[in-house]
Amino acid sequence: MSVWAVLAAAGRGERLGADRPKAFAPLRGRPLLAESLERLEGSDWIESIVVVAPPGWEEPVILLAEELGCGKVAAAVAGGETRAESVQIGVGEVAEDAAVILVHDAARPLVSDDVLERLIVALNEGWDGAVPGLPVVDTVKRVDGDTVVETLPRSSLVAVQTPQAFVASVLRAAVAGTGDATDCSSLVEGRGGRVKVVAGDPRLFKVTTPDDLALVESWLEADEEDEADEEDEEDDA
Ligand code: CTP
Ligand code: MG
Repeated sequence: MSVWAVLAAAGRGERLGADRPKAFAPLRGRPLLAESLERLEGSDWIESIVVVAPPGWEEPVILLAEELGCGKVAAAVAGGETRAESVQIGVGEVAEDAAVILVHDAARPLVSDDVLERLIVALNEGWDGAVPGLPVVDTVKRVDGDTVVETLPRSSLVAVQTPQAFVASVLRAAVAGTGDATDCSSLVEGRGGRVKVVAGDPRLFKVTTPDDLALVESWLEADEEDEADEEDEEDDA
């Protein structure tokens, strides 16, 4: 089964406030984009990758892909004004014969193979789409300005992440229309598509602010220390 990934990286990163687009903000000395790109490249689930770059940053994306040895990158295209537009542009670069299109935000650097597997398995079960979701821990209320309108039943809510995977023809049809959906699944749902929620991953956390970037950095550092400890133990054994 041919699975293509569209990596949405075209945002400006206004809330991060760096001197460059968020995808190129440094995470442990590398552009943030490098982390998700390398992880998708390394996954046996993914055949090819389209990177949707901040306008004017297509060339640096290609150079980064070459530097990382990411031979799966089939195209780097300039994104649009909104995420929805950027995804539409990226989906337009996916090969005709792709069976599955997976859309991921470069703002969520720590994509794992486990999540990719859960999504693809769901599609093999016959779903039109699959999204990772986490239980909502806070009580969520609908408001009108500063007035609480109602309290939503938490047990029926999930917080949804990316990557989101879809049968290619279903996603193509869903993104063809205009509209400013914040995720792809809502476009598919809106057309009657059946989308499964699979277990998400707290580490698929979205980087929005400088504190978020520091948090992801601290996780990666802790991982590296754990790996070093394990190697020491192996050496001792
Ligand atoms: N995105 C995109 N094209 C846009 C806007 C967003 O491809 N026109 C991508 C971002 O690069 C990011 C993902 O969509 O990977 C989620 O968007 P968000 O976290 O809001 O990132 P930014 O829009 O870059 O950040 P901000 O809203 O703070 O400017
Ligand atoms: Mg944004």
